[in-house]
Amino acid sequence: MKKHILVTTLAGLVLVFAFSCQDISSHRKKTQGTDPALEKKVSALVSRMTLEEKVGQMTQITLDKFYKETLDTALLHEYIVKYGLGSVLNSHHDKSGMTVALSMQEWRALQTRIQKYARETRLKIPVLYGIDAIHGVTYLKGATLFPQNIALAAARDPSVVHAAAKITAKEVRACGIRWNFDPVVGVGRQPLWSRFEETFGEDPYLVGELGEAVIRGYEEDGLDKPTAVASCMKHYLGYPVPLTGKDRTPAYIPEIVLRQIFLPPYKKAVEAGASTVMINSGSINGIPVHASRYLITDVLKEELGFTGLVVTDWQDIIYLRDQHHVAKDNKEAVMMAVNAGIDMSMVPYDLSFYHDLIALVREGKVPMSRIDDAVTRILRVKYRLGLFDNPFPEKGTEDYYEKPGYKEVALQAAREAVTLLKNDTLQGNPVLPLSNKMRLLVAGPGANSRAMLNGSWSYSWQGKDESLYPAEVPTIRQALEEKFGKNKVINIAPDGFQNVSPQQVSMLRKYAPQADAIILCLGENSYAESPGSIDDLTLPEDQLLLAEAAAKTGKPVILILTEGRPRIINRIVPSMNGILLAYRPGNMGAPALAEVLEGEVNPSGRLPYTYPRYTGNLMTYDMPVRAAQYYRPQWPFGFGLSYTTFRVTSLKADKDTLQSGDTLLVTAVVKNSGPRDGAVALDLFVRDMTATVAPPMRKLRKFTRLALKSGETKKVTFALTDEDWTFIDPSLKPRIEAGKMRVLLGNKEVEFFLKK
Ligand code: BGC
Ligand code: BGC
Repeated sequence: MKKHILVTTLAGLVLVFAFSCQDISSHRKKTQGTDPALEKKVSALVSRMTLEEKVGQMTQITLDKFYKETLDTALLHEYIVKYGLGSVLNSHHDKSGMTVALSMQEWRALQTRIQKYARETRLKIPVLYGIDAIHGVTYLKGATLFPQNIALAAARDPSVVHAAAKITAKEVRACGIRWNFDPVVGVGRQPLWSRFEETFGEDPYLVGELGEAVIRGYEEDGLDKPTAVASCMKHYLGYPVPLTGKDRTPAYIPEIVLRQIFLPPYKKAVEAGASTVMINSGSINGIPVHASRYLITDVLKEELGFTGLVVTDWQDIIYLRDQHHVAKDNKEAVMMAVNAGIDMSMVPYDLSFYHDLIALVREGKVPMSRIDDAVTRILRVKYRLGLFDNPFPEKGTEDYYEKPGYKEVALQAAREAVTLLKNDTLQGNPVLPLSNKMRLLVAGPGANSRAMLNGSWSYSWQGKDESLYPAEVPTIRQALEEKFGKNKVINIAPDGFQNVSPQQVSMLRKYAPQADAIILCLGENSYAESPGSIDDLTLPEDQLLLAEAAAKTGKPVILILTEGRPRIINRIVPSMNGILLAYRPGNMGAPALAEVLEGEVNPSGRLPYTYPRYTGNLMTYDMPVRAAQYYRPQWPFGFGLSYTTFRVTSLKADKDTLQSGDTLLVTAVVKNSGPRDGAVALDLFVRDMTATVAPPMRKLRKFTRLALKSGETKKVTFALTDEDWTFIDPSLKPRIEAGKMRVLLGNKEVEFFLKK
């Protein structure tokens, strides 16, 4: 199977972008337990293992457990050699409780030590080490940090996502590590949620396509190659939509919605060959996912055919008792989780799982067949990763660290992500781009903050500590000085993120008369997971006041929003003259923003989510028609301006009537009718005009990016198939119904009749 998007220039040149699914399927064969030679090795080893050795393999402990002031090598040795620990994760904490970034050499030395200990065990089974390299290698000093997923999703460019993943894989391997707890393929449909920035946004198709690009980037070279890492799709299933909006609180999701919206990206990830999966900490309809045999075994392992390793999230078996209160004690929690289909427990601090599971098997409460299945899945990944051949950091992989070309990819991704939301015309001219002769007043908590650019999982878990960022990472203020000249930039912003003080406001009033424009950097400081939970989606009052003061100066105000989720700003939108959304653009985000402000780069990002206008109106774009009448966002899904104008001049389907099973070719002609060269991201939607289950207003079915010179016209052809009009019916089965369909692109639409 190949996915095609054809781009034809009017000169007749045909460019075919085809992602070959061939590579994916051969990769999948290896990952999904259909390689007989590998299966033989694994089962031979399992048959030689004692119960204790098996349960040891299923136990994962955090590195922090082994740190007092320094590494307690005796304790580490004891866990690995005496208990046969299967996996270690994460970095350790410093005195203040912050997770520490290590140097590449420290990581390599640690991996070498761990694998040496593993060689002392009876069966010499190597340890599988896992870390979070979420937008680059979180706990590696000097690692390349890319934009967060929410920004990458705005770029609508799987190739840049893929390139970033390949670099991340290499930097993980440079550390001697082979397992990355990434990508997040949850669909971000609750903007209050503190992990929104880790998602690819609100549309399941977009999430699925980009998740697949990441998994290919991590795994396609073959896990035994030193350029690959095992991926971990997470957090299965339904984590992004807690009813309260607070992290790790219950979700209530009808199964028809689970299957329509949340399951498809996992299906795609399994098909792309994802080796491992992490389970959602929360509950769905009252059942913690860690205790759901239905979701883990019946749906994931059996229905989707996932043969990889299932790991819990942090402490989540213990939480079945302590937080969910569905188990009376830890032993019951272990029984529930393992019988549900958990293969490895991220315990992560003690041996409670180990001891309880051994007892449960002896008492016949967990069948040995379940244990064997779990261990098979763990060993399969370890074999495939080449850990049995050489578990140590390979020679040569040091060179994968910090290559100059990496920054280019991070910069390119940020350039493509930045989304222009507003551009007023003042005295006959658009306010953006700015002339490089202008003097700029730079204000606001984002101007001198690297943490704000990066967000979660950035050299520390919370990403907040400014001192951990490499000094050469430019802040927005520095990037503007570089681009416009130091003498053109008046900086009144504090160092690092600080709430806006009344003094800041008066400084802004004082210096505004000296400037031609105000660059106002607002948004959110960094946060990760539960500490990022909020009660109000509105941008904090102190920042709104600063914006109002800026507007009152009478100078043009350009708002740069750096934020992980859409903070509501309706009060200030009318008075801002230009608005650029940077999301979390990463370490190269500031230079990308400066290029966009100055006009060297023409912005092309498109919102991967609905930007809400009101706190009481949090809707996604793909609502059924009766809800859609209330869709009143600040900016809709897919919104994004440019310094030029793109027009879809025609949209045609190759058939009026389509027989289900056949392919419909839809061709759009797109013209850059404005004064500048630029790129345009095209979103193609399908609307089912009548269906048994109230159809959404529109569903994203394809997207692509095109570069067009000023005046240039290109033709793009999209191939649509049954998958594009399949929906989940009331009996929870995929269904296609005959009837009228509408295809929408830009302001054009075309209809056809689907026959069954
Ligand atoms: C760890 C994170 C983990 C979190 C869970 C932190 O100490 O570094 O990886 O997700 O605890 O609460
Ligand atoms: C997070 C996961 C992460 C794990 C290990 C958990 O708290 O939810 O996303 O992979 O910690 O750090």
